[in-house]
Amino acid sequence: MTEAKFPKNFLWGGAVAAHQLEGAWQAGGKGVSVADVMTAGANKIPREITAGVIPGKNYPNHDGIDFYHHYKEDVKLFAEMGFKCFRTSIAWTRIFPQGDESEANEAGLQFYDDLFDECLKYNIEPVVTLAHFEMPYHLVEEYGGFANRKVIDFFVRFATTCFKRYKNKVKYWMTFNEIDNQSRFNNDFLMCTNSGLLLNNDSNNEAAMYQAAHYELVASALAVKEGKKINSDFMIGTMINFTPIYPATSKPADVLMAQRADQRRNWFSDVQCWGYYPANVEAYIERNDFRPDITEEDRIVLKEGTVDYIGFSYYQSMVVSADKVAPDDLSDPEDVIVSNPYVEKSDWDWEIDPVGLRYSLNALTDRYHLPLFIVENGLGAVDKVENDGSIHDPYRIAYLRAHLEEVRKAVTLDGVDLMGYTPWGCIDLVSAGTGQMSKRYGFIYVNKDDEGNGDLARSRKDSFYWYQKVIKTDGADLN
Ligand code: BG6
Repeated sequence: MTEAKFPKNFLWGGAVAAHQLEGAWQAGGKGVSVADVMTAGANKIPREITAGVIPGKNYPNHDGIDFYHHYKEDVKLFAEMGFKCFRTSIAWTRIFPQGDESEANEAGLQFYDDLFDECLKYNIEPVVTLAHFEMPYHLVEEYGGFANRKVIDFFVRFATTCFKRYKNKVKYWMTFNEIDNQSRFNNDFLMCTNSGLLLNNDSNNEAAMYQAAHYELVASALAVKEGKKINSDFMIGTMINFTPIYPATSKPADVLMAQRADQRRNWFSDVQCWGYYPANVEAYIERNDFRPDITEEDRIVLKEGTVDYIGFSYYQSMVVSADKVAPDDLSDPEDVIVSNPYVEKSDWDWEIDPVGLRYSLNALTDRYHLPLFIVENGLGAVDKVENDGSIHDPYRIAYLRAHLEEVRKAVTLDGVDLMGYTPWGCIDLVSAGTGQMSKRYGFIYVNKDDEGNGDLARSRKDSFYWYQKVIKTDGADLN
């Protein structure tokens, strides 16, 4: 029974984000985004967010893998693998370089016209995220990012400009990448990339997060509403980093903690799918006296702008314990994580849990009753190029195979309605978290190192041929 195939129209493909691969950070009038002020970090060394672009610092996103000039060659390789779709994002700063202009930048719009045409030439359906960690830096400096209600309008203008321009080329959209990342409200990188907040010690980061997240959710709902007016066939989804949360033991306090951590972390999609805040979040905001600016009009917008599907990334599960913090005192789920002794870890300490993906698919289906789309999943690893130029990456194949086996069970045994699967970083790109090139996810190798050396030549890894076969057999052959 598990040999059964995936549905015929299943969207096999791969995923990237503009800022991690396009490079050409100033081409065609592009403005500076938050990704352009992040330096290169390393494994366990965070990236620095600088006050503007400082000469002499290493900003890896400035050049990426120069997809801006290589996209024809790269899309051709995606077509060779048999991609049915390609998930990327639109760099907000190519369309509105500063973010608050009233007129869009034609050169930026034209670039995505050309890119989408190139995909469609091979019958590859573009799947587009509007904001993937790429807010114009000017909106951060001048307005404080999504701490400011005005930024809602700037985002909606950007979204509607894209919807109008690409209404006949793009059907599948997502508003904000991993909007729920900001539940980790003490993490500088996630707060800046998600909502353009620059944290400082004097502020209540948690209260600031609830406010910014609310404005972002309103912006997302307004975009959905406007998008549907522009093309009623659009499918517009949320995009969350779904992390199933397990209790460390069967102790009732641990079980309650797992539920609490889920409530603190996974409520963003509740608002986007249901159109209202879950009772536990309303009660939590009230109990903590956060007093965010949430108007009655906002609540109507949230109701009217619910999403059509759930796009989600899946990398790992999370285990929590009530040993250090009592469930009622939990604010940041990060504080109660413990290591899972039953799973392996990647070289970057990301826990590898394929069964957790089947669990997630079922959990999301039970909670929302909406179609799902796995828009990110994958293993960041160091690859070695052999003398003959070949790249053997059995670890990546093993990772993806194990996950796809669980996905196939969810689809064929559990009845999950899954639209597609786009593994992350289908071509090597700059890591979001560390800024490294050496943390590679791709089926396609790109010759560039962490210092920026290399001729950017593309070559096929073993996993390239493996994934090509998976797609060709509609997922029946995962060997
Ligand atoms: C997801 C992001 O969280 O994880 C991607 O949407 C990111 O942008 C991916 O690249 C993998 O994370 P990292 O830090 O290994 O690049």
